[in-house]
Amino acid sequence: MPTAMLVVTAMLSSLLVMASGEPIVIAGKPLSEWDMLDVDMSAGSDGCECLTDVRALLAQTAPQLFHLLRRHGFSERGERRVVVAPTRAIELQPLLQDLLLERHYAVQWQQPIGEGSFGAVFRADDRLTGRPAAIKRTKLEVAGEGEGIPASSIREVAALKATAHPNVVQLLDVICEHGGMDLVLEYLPANLAQHMKRHRFVLEPQAVCSLQQQLLKGLAFCHICSILHRDLKPANLLIQDARPGGHGNLKIADFGLARMTSFGKPRYTPGMVTAWYRPPEIFFGGKYSSPVDVWSAACIFGEMVRGLPLFHGKSDIEVIFSIFRKLGAPRSVVFPQAAFPDFKPSFPQFQRRSWEDICGPDAELGPEGVQLLEDMLQYDPSMRISAKGALGSAYFAGAAAQ
Ligand SMILES: Nc1ncnc2c1ncn2[C@@H]1O[C@H](COP(=O)(O)OP(=O)(O)OP(=O)(O)O)[C@@H](O)[C@H]1O
Ligand SMILES: [Mg+2]
Repeated sequence: MPTAMLVVTAMLSSLLVMASGEPIVIAGKPLSEWDMLDVDMSAGSDGCECLTDVRALLAQTAPQLFHLLRRHGFSERGERRVVVAPTRAIELQPLLQDLLLERHYAVQWQQPIGEGSFGAVFRADDRLTGRPAAIKRTKLEVAGEGEGIPASSIREVAALKATAHPNVVQLLDVICEHGGMDLVLEYLPANLAQHMKRHRFVLEPQAVCSLQQQLLKGLAFCHICSILHRDLKPANLLIQDARPGGHGNLKIADFGLARMTSFGKPRYTPGMVTAWYRPPEIFFGGKYSSPVDVWSAACIFGEMVRGLPLFHGKSDIEVIFSIFRKLGAPRSVVFPQAAFPDFKPSFPQFQRRSWEDICGPDAELGPEGVQLLEDMLQYDPSMRISAKGALGSAYFAGAAAQ
């Protein structure tokens, strides 16, 4: 048996078919019908014509496969030598997904452009058009519920397919094979958190107004489509125009926690909405719907205006107290038990602060901006303005919009 060998299993046959794009016949027999071939890639005459065919195939027809096998540690010593021990053949399975993807996109695997709890995002270029794209790959082990495509990816695809809008990130493609799923998204150079950081957390009032309006336009459209985002935060908003004072071309992204409201009103699911952007009805175990996203959008608005998060804390209770310290509670505000079952009247009491005090004297919000914040941050979700209603705010027609 040769020391360096390539074990061609049925799995690897599929890889080869995908790499070349055509069914492969070796020595008159389709590759898929070969149970196992040991191929010495290193050279030398093995006396078998069909093995020479495989070598040539790998070297010429399937350079991507070669590249891929090497990247995943299957290859050793030089360009033309691939070693796959029989025990590792099963590990070839995930490569199918990579190969399928790499036929269409040149992916920059070395450096993810984003990494989150659910997976990683990579920059890529469409091989045909050169158009940049972002590949969002979900970690399969996060799926938790056993094998298969994680629920977050399915939710994200369903939501993105339903929301073609200039202020929602565009889903270009879905590549799905053997339990893996990659979302191919239009590429945007920055997220809002990075954008604010780059500008030292000081955005021009006109830029804030424009970005907030774009956020609300995208959000209003999602809500018209009966989609709750449930995870609005600066890192989940992408920005095309990241120049100083850039007014953005903002797009809502990361629909991994999104759900359709048409399936009934969801009750609190632990972990929905990052704590700093989470509304009281979620903190206090109430039923929730589209007003959750309006609260989060208001927190983002406040953050752009202030240059630091509106409500923050290291734990849920710290965030709750941060909200109460600014908006006042609970003496001045009513949290009916039915709507907020987990609210405790024993919470310490806080006085309401003015928006000028909260945002600072330089905020340039104006009375219209203050009113908009007020309307979007109503404790009672039924009193909170809708995204569509917020778009009608005088703030978007006032001085800040000029
Ligand atoms: N289309 C895109 N273009 C450019 N960058 C993107 C794109 N989509 C995502 N990113 C980057 O990757 C990061 C993570 O993406 P996303 O929020 O969709 O994934 P996630 O794994 O759900 O993250 P998290 O768990 O942190 O919310 C984003 O904050 C952004 O910086
Ligand atoms: Mg995210």
